[in-house]
Amino acid sequence: MRVRLARAGRVLRLLDVTPVPAATQGEAVEIVQASVTDLDGMTEACAAVDAVIHLGALACERPWEQILEVNIHGTRTVFEAARWAGVPRVVFASSNHAVGFEPKNGGQVGDYLYPRPDTLYGVSKAAGEALGSLYHDRYGLDVVCLRIGSCTEVPSTARALSTWLSPDDCARLLEAALACERPGFVVAWGVSANTRRWWSLEEAERIGYRPHDDAEVFAAEVEQLTSEYDERYLGGPYCSPTVDGYVS
Ligand SMILES: NC(=O)c1ccc[n+]([C@@H]2O[C@H](COP(=O)([O-])OP(=O)(O)OC[C@H]3O[C@@H](n4cnc5c(N)ncnc54)[C@H](O)[C@@H]3O)[C@@H](O)[C@H]2O)c1
Repeated sequence: MRVRLARAGRVLRLLDVTPVPAATQGEAVEIVQASVTDLDGMTEACAAVDAVIHLGALACERPWEQILEVNIHGTRTVFEAARWAGVPRVVFASSNHAVGFEPKNGGQVGDYLYPRPDTLYGVSKAAGEALGSLYHDRYGLDVVCLRIGSCTEVPSTARALSTWLSPDDCARLLEAALACERPGFVVAWGVSANTRRWWSLEEAERIGYRPHDDAEVFAAEVEQLTSEYDERYLGGPYCSPTVDGYVS
């Protein structure tokens, strides 16, 4: 997203707990190394910014203590820092795994599906959405939660023919979430205009997203890459018993 979100007159302040590559010549970025769990560091990083795009997380299943610390406490810290620093808008990278145990319905499921997490990771994304709702209602922040599907350079499984969010469309979706006038509290799917899509684009389009890509062009390469669990639930392989290794 670093390259895709670059714009004339825009400075991207990039924060990660691990070292981020330095700015290249002419690139308008500021680098901050900090943890999303550090309220002082986050509040400082939020100073004088127009919006936070909160991507920093453990991005797959992990033991509960880590999920709790980084994804749940860290997300609460991001919202709190944004509030203290007066940032009016937070875009939160939620996930389809917040509703992964929702059975597929043979058509497209709508936005604002009630949480039905498929993992502890999915629980953390549902918790992040709940925190976003609280910070909107209590403190007036605009909060856009994006239930991202599979954002990879190219689709890597048959499931991704339905769930793919191309990196270019991801940037388009983030731009829409940044530009939309007073969105309030939004939960929208993050998916490309895939022919085999299972998810509504209604709410994403309402905030101005116009996807360009369709995973179907990769169908011949990945169609045969399926698993037993792909066919039953929205969360696909995360609903498999083998992903349950961390739950004691
Ligand atoms: N890529 C996808 O398909 C997808 C799908 C659904 C949701 N998401 C969400 O989008 C976000 C980005 O995903 P990604 O695929 O780029 O994952 P990623 O693992 O590549 O990026 C996550 C980043 O968060 C950083 N991070 C981890 N702990 C941190 C901490 N304590 N403080 C600050 N930074 C920390 C990591 O160093 C890493 O750079 C994540 O929140 C993920 O859950 C991604």
